[in-house]
Amino acid sequence: MNPRQPIYLDHQATTPVDPRVLEAMLPYYEGDFGNASSSTHAFGWRAEAAVDDARERIAACLGLDAKEIVFTSGATESNNLAIHGVLNAKPGQARSVVTTEIEHPSVLEAAGAQRAFGHRDIVVGVRPDGLVDPDAIVAAIEEDTSLVSVSAANSEIGTLPDIEEIAQRCKERGVLFHSDAAQAVGKLPLSLGSSAIDLLSFSAHKIYGPKGIGVLVVRKRRPRIKLRPLQFGGGQEGGLRSGTLAVPLIVGCARALELAVAEQEAETKRLRDLREKLRLEIEQAVPDVVVNGDLERRLPGNLNLSFPGLDGERLLLDLQGIAVSSGSACSSGSTEPSHVLLALGRDEALARSTVRFGLGRGTTEADIETAVEAVSRAVQNQKSR
Ligand SMILES: Cc1ncc(COP(=O)(O)O)c(C=O)c1O
Repeated sequence: MNPRQPIYLDHQATTPVDPRVLEAMLPYYEGDFGNASSSTHAFGWRAEAAVDDARERIAACLGLDAKEIVFTSGATESNNLAIHGVLNAKPGQARSVVTTEIEHPSVLEAAGAQRAFGHRDIVVGVRPDGLVDPDAIVAAIEEDTSLVSVSAANSEIGTLPDIEEIAQRCKERGVLFHSDAAQAVGKLPLSLGSSAIDLLSFSAHKIYGPKGIGVLVVRKRRPRIKLRPLQFGGGQEGGLRSGTLAVPLIVGCARALELAVAEQEAETKRLRDLREKLRLEIEQAVPDVVVNGDLERRLPGNLNLSFPGLDGERLLLDLQGIAVSSGSACSSGSTEPSHVLLALGRDEALARSTVRFGLGRGTTEADIETAVEAVSRAVQNQKSR
């Protein structure tokens, strides 16, 4: 990385493309640039073969069948397709979706937007440690509920609810279960073959793949999971997502996932150790710091801290040398206090004093030491003002 660049500790926002991923993608921008739907010549056949191969490899990484992989533009689109798709599968029937207060805006807003179609969104609170109580989800299911959506890993505080248990309980109630796994795929061991999860979203750019490509997993079940598409056209992706397939991005998505899965175990340990070093050393320098979210059931590279009495925006400005974010980084330009921290019961002032550290593949011990020094200095600066 360019030595004049700040140290990048915002891997929950996005990640750099791994050079091994870029290398796999490049041929599909150059010689093999064909349209995967062109069935009359070799350019099309080669593009189609690359997509088929990527689909197989992604499915293999997740313990799925290739037919269960639907390519989209990213997790936002996948979440929208899952929620809109299930609720509007049978036109004329008013349905509801159950979700939680700490979901990403692409779930909460997609659920809220269903009101315009005559549906309802039921938003369940979470525990103060950021975990989701499966009983609370089941209690919220009503007669007209057709879908429950709970993320596998929270994008701000990194907490990991027991989605398998929630999925199982939804299955018992005859309700479909969707999980936004944008922060979880490639970072947690996920084997979906025997899972009760029906629909799952993820995005390549969170796992060192390219931006603009994601997946909605739609399990092959009996009876079939019916989805109404968001867009119509050439009928690609089994009619669920029309539009020319982004072959280089699809190839990159497959390579990124393979690498993330292969390196996941070692990387989890390395990141957890670095995260704990960061936490313990900041806690030593700033004793009143507050950790948001459970520390055990948590993404290895995530640390979300509130600094009582301090202004988070000011803190971020003082932390020029390290690229971190305030709590609500995923919703662009937002200056509102994080809806996730408010849902945990934090007050507005504490929520506004929050910094999210996202450690990733490039993070070193030296980066952590620099970050600890920078945070200590920035906190001292503000306290002495
Ligand atoms: C949990 C979660 N869901 C969805 C998204 C949106 O993903 P994408 O940028 O691929 O649309 C993000 C990241 O921004 C996220 O962290």
